[in-house]
Amino acid sequence: MDDKISGMHLGSCLVGEDEITEIVERLAREISGHYESLVSEENPLLLVGILKGAVVFLSDLARALDVPVSLDFMAVSSYGASTDSSGVVRILHDLDTPIEDRHVLIVEDIVDTGLTLQYLREHFSARGPASIGVVAFLDKPDRRAVDVAVEYVGRSIPDEFVVGYGLDWNQRHRALPCVRVIEEMSSEGENG
Ligand code: IMP
Ligand code: MG
Repeated sequence: MDDKISGMHLGSCLVGEDEITEIVERLAREISGHYESLVSEENPLLLVGILKGAVVFLSDLARALDVPVSLDFMAVSSYGASTDSSGVVRILHDLDTPIEDRHVLIVEDIVDTGLTLQYLREHFSARGPASIGVVAFLDKPDRRAVDVAVEYVGRSIPDEFVVGYGLDWNQRHRALPCVRVIEEMSSEGENG
């Protein structure tokens, strides 16, 4: 699929729908196993989805988990719309829920430099939760700029910019059912 206006091109599925299902089920088993003795109907696991990219993954994961959960969301932005993270994190929407004494699991679409997560872990730690964990659907370890803990990783991928399953390029392609690499078409490339 080519986008002639933006000069971007979508590659084939890097993570297909069947693999996505397997990843979600495996993560749900690991996470349920870890939290089953810690959370209850009275004190459910608080899944914090990082908007907007984590929404698709979170909706699948929440339904696959075997422990009581509640949901909250946070919107953060690194400045600009470039495909490179700037490292400056701005809170656009904060949690509705107090997290003191709660078991909190941050749900991210992808960990790239790790700067967003490093910021979020510190931000949440200051609010006195019972525990903080992170689950990321994808990980790009080659891009890591800071050493930040990610307790659960769906899959590591090479240093490529990917879209689909919630991930966007300039707000586009979030609803693709699989994960695809997006590439810039060279100006003297094919006309197709
Ligand atoms: P980090 O702070 O560099 O780890 O950036 C993490 C955020 O950058 C993710 O939550 C995504 O919103 C965005 N991001 C990083 N890599 C990609 C990608 O390949 N596709 C889409 N968004 C990405
Ligand atoms: Mg994000």
